[in-house]
Amino acid sequence: MPAEERRRREALYRHGGAAWPVGAQAWRAAAAEVLARNHFDWIEGGAGEEWTLEANREAFKRWRLRPRMLAGNSSRDLGVDVLGTRCPAPFMLAPIGGQTVVHPEGELATARAAAAAEIPMVVSTAASHRVEDVAGALGDAPRWYQLYWVSDQDVTQSFLRRAVSVGCEAIVLTIDSPRLGWRDRDLRNAYNPHLEGHGIGQYTSDPVFRSRLARPPEEDERAAGAAMVKMFPNASLTWNHLAWLREQTRLPLLVKGVLTAEDARLARDTGMDGGIVSNHGARQLDGEVAALDALPEVRDELGPDATILVDSGIRRGTDIVKALALGADAVLVGRPYLYGLAVGGDAGVAQVLRALAEEVDLALGLVGAHGATSVDRSFVTEAPR
Ligand SMILES: Cc1cc2nc3c(=O)[nH]c(=O)nc-3n(C[C@H](O)[C@H](O)[C@H](O)COP(=O)(O)O)c2cc1C
Repeated sequence: MPAEERRRREALYRHGGAAWPVGAQAWRAAAAEVLARNHFDWIEGGAGEEWTLEANREAFKRWRLRPRMLAGNSSRDLGVDVLGTRCPAPFMLAPIGGQTVVHPEGELATARAAAAAEIPMVVSTAASHRVEDVAGALGDAPRWYQLYWVSDQDVTQSFLRRAVSVGCEAIVLTIDSPRLGWRDRDLRNAYNPHLEGHGIGQYTSDPVFRSRLARPPEEDERAAGAAMVKMFPNASLTWNHLAWLREQTRLPLLVKGVLTAEDARLARDTGMDGGIVSNHGARQLDGEVAALDALPEVRDELGPDATILVDSGIRRGTDIVKALALGADAVLVGRPYLYGLAVGGDAGVAQVLRALAEEVDLALGLVGAHGATSVDRSFVTEAPR
């Protein structure tokens, strides 16, 4: 074992469990302890019966690794390049809005942790902090921007312009949320973070959005939240509209929320540079397919050269290796870093990211792979039902 790896492993065993939770379930439990019930439910909940939420995890459980022995892989290359963005490990931080719900510093704390690890962060349109401030916290670290195409196109265009001006390297258009899903937990708790001023920082700082308000958000935050909630649904959007988006920027464009070969084809044919196979962490349509189960059909449809990411249900390094095996170039990590944020601010996020990278490295090591890009379908098999 190379000295550097041995040093890291020894440190893990020496300090490991003492300071921080170990493993995704322990982080989740720790987050549940520190958060108010309605806040925890908001991050944790899925749509409806939460069948898809369960299915996301079941899919990872069902796919099993086929390790190859004596591979001579004493060091592994964890890094991947995704549309020109360098990732030191095969994951990025998923776009998650309203992070001040779990920690007062919200996206700023997450950005500091991402920057320290040089792991790219996808900044959400529904962030609580302005994209300019998140970019400041990121320093020189890589960042992408997740766009919600709201029903006011001038506001959408303004969001995009701002993202480009703070150095975002790619735009991720989320297409699975033309309206908000039916989320039992939030309805039960009567909880909508936007009405309490979370997740509206992009909007309240936007000159075009502000021009739509009767009174400035500083005077009436609730009305600004309500205006955001009203502007959010955009169910009239079609694939044909993507030509407009293509004209707005030369940056790589990805669509997030692809779950079928049909939509993968449409994304490619409308000039998108990549697709993210995702069911939004099962928060939108209950009963829809687990993201991991949709991944092989999307990869098969688009072929080996297309850029495809996946998220929804990733909790472990072994999950990431399975996703790579089933055709992902990289993955987005969602709830796990939110748990870290809730429990320990930027230090908590940093620990989650560090442990995850370590898990990926160990899983690659034990599965017999030489790096993140050398994992193919021969490394997984579906467990007999
Ligand atoms: C609390 C919360 C807020 C989210 N906000 C956004 C968002 O603003 N934009 C977006 O595209 N996806 C959003 N997502 C979805 C994530 O980007 C990602 O698809 C999801 O978290 C993956 O599922 P997992 O966390 O179970 O792995 C959010 C997810 C959660 C849990």
